[in-house]
Amino acid sequence: MNNILLGVTGGIAAYKAVDLARRLTLLGFRVKVVMSENATRLVGPATFRAVTSNPVALSLFADGGAPMEHIDLAREADVVVVAPATANIIAKMAHGLADDLLSTTLLATRAPVVLAPAMNREMWSHPATVSNLETLRERGVRVVGPESGSLACGEEGPGRMSEPETIVEEVLAALGTNSLLAGVPVLVTAGGTREAIDPVRFIGNRSSGKMGYAMAAVAARMGARVQLVSGPSALECPGGVERVTVETAEEMREEVVERAPACRAVVMAAAVADFMPVKAHGEKIKRGSAEKLVLELVRTPDILAELSGIKPQGQVLVGFAAETGELLQRARAKMREKKVDMLVANDVTHPGSGFDSDYNRAVLLFADGREVELDLMPKAELAAVIWREVSALLDISGR
Ligand code: C5P
Repeated sequence: MNNILLGVTGGIAAYKAVDLARRLTLLGFRVKVVMSENATRLVGPATFRAVTSNPVALSLFADGGAPMEHIDLAREADVVVVAPATANIIAKMAHGLADDLLSTTLLATRAPVVLAPAMNREMWSHPATVSNLETLRERGVRVVGPESGSLACGEEGPGRMSEPETIVEEVLAALGTNSLLAGVPVLVTAGGTREAIDPVRFIGNRSSGKMGYAMAAVAARMGARVQLVSGPSALECPGGVERVTVETAEEMREEVVERAPACRAVVMAAAVADFMPVKAHGEKIKRGSAEKLVLELVRTPDILAELSGIKPQGQVLVGFAAETGELLQRARAKMREKKVDMLVANDVTHPGSGFDSDYNRAVLLFADGREVELDLMPKAELAAVIWREVSALLDISGR
């Protein structure tokens, strides 16, 4: 489990840091919060303690705290995120000042650091802040935001802290450099397939490919060697990913069955057609005068079921289940039927998630009967949760 140190300083946006702490905790991270004294005047430490289930660190000299708490916190953190980051903490970091627990910890840590600045627009554009941030960027600190909009001081302009979900993305990217899947060969399928009716028409589905592409992009960021077998999609191939495009279920089957045995994890996120026309007409079907046209369909090969039959020892196989009701019941049945290690089930009729959305709400089902119900979250965030689970399963099977 990765450790995240969340530094909260005294900006009005400190209340949004509670949501950030909650999101990071839900993602399975161990989150420890360090608050500056000013931050405690805006949000109570008890709130962070409740959300993270961890004590909140406040002072270098707290009774009961470890004598070298700043060094312990600095060492155990896999990433440090400061949100909101005030002009003050930015200045302290740039100059190496260490006059409280958070600034001291920041000086002592060698973990990647993410800053989410939040301040009045004049403070943001002040040459001192501009040059401090430049110094920090040069040192490899990641800066996310701020956004433009209405500020707590009543003015308009740049200075609003980025939304917690955007900060989570940046934290995941910073952790990705920690290489959770370093060198692991993985195969991901994405998008919908097309089954030809005639040379100009096909049976397709509403899949945009966004979930599968997010899976591929996040795996690449985590250091995996990623092959992506994709149905037709408008999406760009993510950096560091080798893409093969296919059109039909049969073509996808061929590519996947050939590549899967050499991979440690296979994620079937594609919406593969379940039926295809018995035969594709060689010529465009004419409208003519017929009132009805009957298409005869036949089942496509079930790639996932075939993969579970040829699965090498230690490979982790993940299926997706897009359902339109009775989600858990159907997902449990599919889990047994397809013999996968993990099934990602989502209700595609749920408002705000599913096809073509940037968000998804899913339940993860595991072969050992464990079930994890997740909140609505950006697809990239969900992809990170899934890969973390895959990585844990790979560890169990011995890498
Ligand atoms: O049975 P259903 O189509 O709902 O199962 C969905 C899962 O099975 C997805 O992971 C999908 O990629 C995979 N699938 C497949 N071959 C098919 C149909 C679905 O591998 N012909």
